[in-house]
Amino acid sequence: MTQYKIPVIPGDGIGPEIIAEGCKVIDAAGEKFGFDVEWVEYPHGADHYLKTGELISEDTLAELNRNPVIYLGSIGDPRVAPGVLEKGILLAARFYFDEYVNLRPIKLLEGVWTPIKDKTPKDIDFVVVRENTEDFYIGIGGKAGRGTSKDLLEVSRNLYSAKFGLDIETDSEEIAYQIGMISKEGTQRVISYAFDLAEKRKKHVSSVDKANVLSDIYGFWRKEFEAIAAKHPGVTTDFNYVDAMTMWFVKNPEWFDVVVTPNMFGDIITDLGAMVQGGLGLAPGGNINPKGTSMFEPIHGSAPKYKGQNKVNPIATIWAGAMMMEQLGEKEAADTIVSAIETNILQAKVRTYDMGGSSTTSDVGDDIARIVQGK
Ligand code: IPM
Ligand code: MN
Repeated sequence: MTQYKIPVIPGDGIGPEIIAEGCKVIDAAGEKFGFDVEWVEYPHGADHYLKTGELISEDTLAELNRNPVIYLGSIGDPRVAPGVLEKGILLAARFYFDEYVNLRPIKLLEGVWTPIKDKTPKDIDFVVVRENTEDFYIGIGGKAGRGTSKDLLEVSRNLYSAKFGLDIETDSEEIAYQIGMISKEGTQRVISYAFDLAEKRKKHVSSVDKANVLSDIYGFWRKEFEAIAAKHPGVTTDFNYVDAMTMWFVKNPEWFDVVVTPNMFGDIITDLGAMVQGGLGLAPGGNINPKGTSMFEPIHGSAPKYKGQNKVNPIATIWAGAMMMEQLGEKEAADTIVSAIETNILQAKVRTYDMGGSSTTSDVGDDIARIVQGK
């Protein structure tokens, strides 16, 4: 029997409830496919932070980094200022493990209602490859002010002194700025990943940018995209400005196969993608470092108002668990879990409120685990 040791970070809000169902379903698949998982739980999240003042330490990250995969619930809590936990735990982990691909399948399962009129599962089946370590997420910014470079101070003086008559000094707080940065290496690796993925799918890659306006940063992205596209003559491509992309996702989702996008645009369009595929309760994601540690999570947040109610939909988390098992090489178990999710949905008997049912989180987990075992 294959043994796996998988770190789990249930996190905040509904995190512990949904992750419990994900572990339950994977354990059921293990019984069927001959593997056993030892779940190693980590307490990181709001409670741990409020009790100890620690977000996640370098030692813990180093320890986690010795594992091929991590299973994560959700991070974020109203008792802590917005961004503290998200940046201090979730983004810290994505960056520390250098998980440069955020893989987010947008797939309408059979039997799921989509708000997009006249579209069926054969129209909505693509994957967003979101760059996950650069762009406006690098965490460099401030006020003029604190940490302002001389150049930036000069630029802001010229721009804003004339315009608003502001007196911008190093110790003033008249402007705020955030730096977006992408690199050749960082761009090439994620775009190459997208093309390799497309080679195994329908051989089409769509690039998302805003090269018409933010031309330095996203013009650079587009140039790298073109260079990599030239190495994949069998793959067709298109370019999309991010604003237009939000329209195409809704109007023509059938155009897409693999969509590759810089980090921040990827954040925005994957919430839209989640809705296209039936809602946030159904949208899984993987933070992938193909040669290192990958971390799997639902793309939704911690939904604090539903905490402890056994009410929310665990399917996104269970599906993320299937992606995790696939990453570990348990392809058959992963496929079986996804098809059990489809069966659960088609049977339409055990559903949470967001899908029009009245079953609980754990009812849905039980039902999918039962289907996985063929009972
Ligand atoms: C996501 C989330 C995160 C992000 C937040 C919680 C830091 O919105 O995974 O999409 O912006 O990446
Ligand atoms: Mn997001």
